[in-house]
Amino acid sequence: MGSQSGQFMPAVSRFIGEETPELVEGHGATVVDADGNEYVDFFAQHAAMSHGYSHPEVVSAVSEQTERLNFSAYDFPTEPSRRLTERLAEVAPGDLERSYFVNSGSEAVEVALTLARRATGNHEFLALGEAFHGRTYGARSLVGWSGYREGFGPFLPSVTHVPSYNCEEFPGGEPETGAEYAEILEYILEYQVSDVAAFIAEPMFGTAGNIPAPEGYFKRIKEICDEHGILFIADEVITGFGRTGKPFGIDHYDVEPDVMTTAKALGGGMPIGATIATPEVADAFESMDYFSTFGGNPVATAAGLASLDVFEEEDLAGNAAEAGEYLLDQLHDLQSRYPFVGEIRGRGLLVGVDLIDPDDGSPLAKEHSLDLRRDAIDRGLILPAGQGWNGNTIRINPPLVIDDDELDRGVAVMDECFELLADRLA
Ligand SMILES: Cc1ncc(COP(=O)(O)O)c(C=O)c1O
Repeated sequence: MGSQSGQFMPAVSRFIGEETPELVEGHGATVVDADGNEYVDFFAQHAAMSHGYSHPEVVSAVSEQTERLNFSAYDFPTEPSRRLTERLAEVAPGDLERSYFVNSGSEAVEVALTLARRATGNHEFLALGEAFHGRTYGARSLVGWSGYREGFGPFLPSVTHVPSYNCEEFPGGEPETGAEYAEILEYILEYQVSDVAAFIAEPMFGTAGNIPAPEGYFKRIKEICDEHGILFIADEVITGFGRTGKPFGIDHYDVEPDVMTTAKALGGGMPIGATIATPEVADAFESMDYFSTFGGNPVATAAGLASLDVFEEEDLAGNAAEAGEYLLDQLHDLQSRYPFVGEIRGRGLLVGVDLIDPDDGSPLAKEHSLDLRRDAIDRGLILPAGQGWNGNTIRINPPLVIDDDELDRGVAVMDECFELLADRLA
């Protein structure tokens, strides 16, 4: 089993505690543990394994590059990092043409913050009330949920959290397009802040519980940002590269960001992040405004190139859109049979299922979700239950290469586990 007591990493074996299986192999959306048990994966390692485990094209790109030249820092350019910059400029929305390579999503956010201050000369940031942007200090300062910040302050003093579209009841009745939720930003700009460098947002909340923004929301946010000379940073660390059924999450909103942060799926399993900016913004950066020894190394960028090839050749965005529809149908069927299944939402393969107390609709206590995780593992499914800011969301974000058979098996296990949960709640 997966306990590793010599480390001071309390999150190790977090999935189901001491009994968490040690993984030894994986292909597509299926992983195998040290005892030979197979699991369909609805988790994809925090939505990072979009291409599936050990994709052969990524594996051979990594191995070929490792043999040829396994490392060079920024000081010497390499072919894979040059080519990856060109490819990202082709796939990224609008005028996002310049990339800055780092090693993770949090670090991509740090670069975006540093760049925004340099490019605008302003120091304040706006982030959404339920946002998650990482755990380094700048990124953590942007996190909207106090549970992830408590005990670690002081943070960046210049972050203001903007109430998001995810409020229970919108004052003034049901919004028509979702643009109405964005108007609060005008108020904040008038009364609360004065020197804003950037507004940063996930196009769809991930960690908060896989919650999409309504249709007209980001268009209005971008308009307001433009009117006030504020940069709009789309944090696509989870939503990028097909996860939501379009190449990037922000593509659902017909908005072109000034800066975009990416990581997770970009490396097809290798650690890499990229902050992508318009030339106008990127040109403000000076030589040592940021530096990261391993950022943009040839092996990680070769993996990035292979992962972009797979993204296009296998139409991962199209697969996510199709499989996501199929999955939502099946989940709605479960919802019709189990009264503790509350809201189901999502785009592509970034789906949230809330579990509720059937008596009053309040979030179901987290221990029930943890039982679900264990029941699912015992039956061959990695099911990320017990997530979201209320601890009652099943965040379903499998590899985008998952096939119908794997989805069917996963949903069948959910059905069995829901049956057990129904008995426990009776
Ligand atoms: C939207 C978003 N931004 C940033 C991060 C941080 O990425 P990393 O864990 O690679 O530092 C995450 C991680 O889940 C994320 O979801």
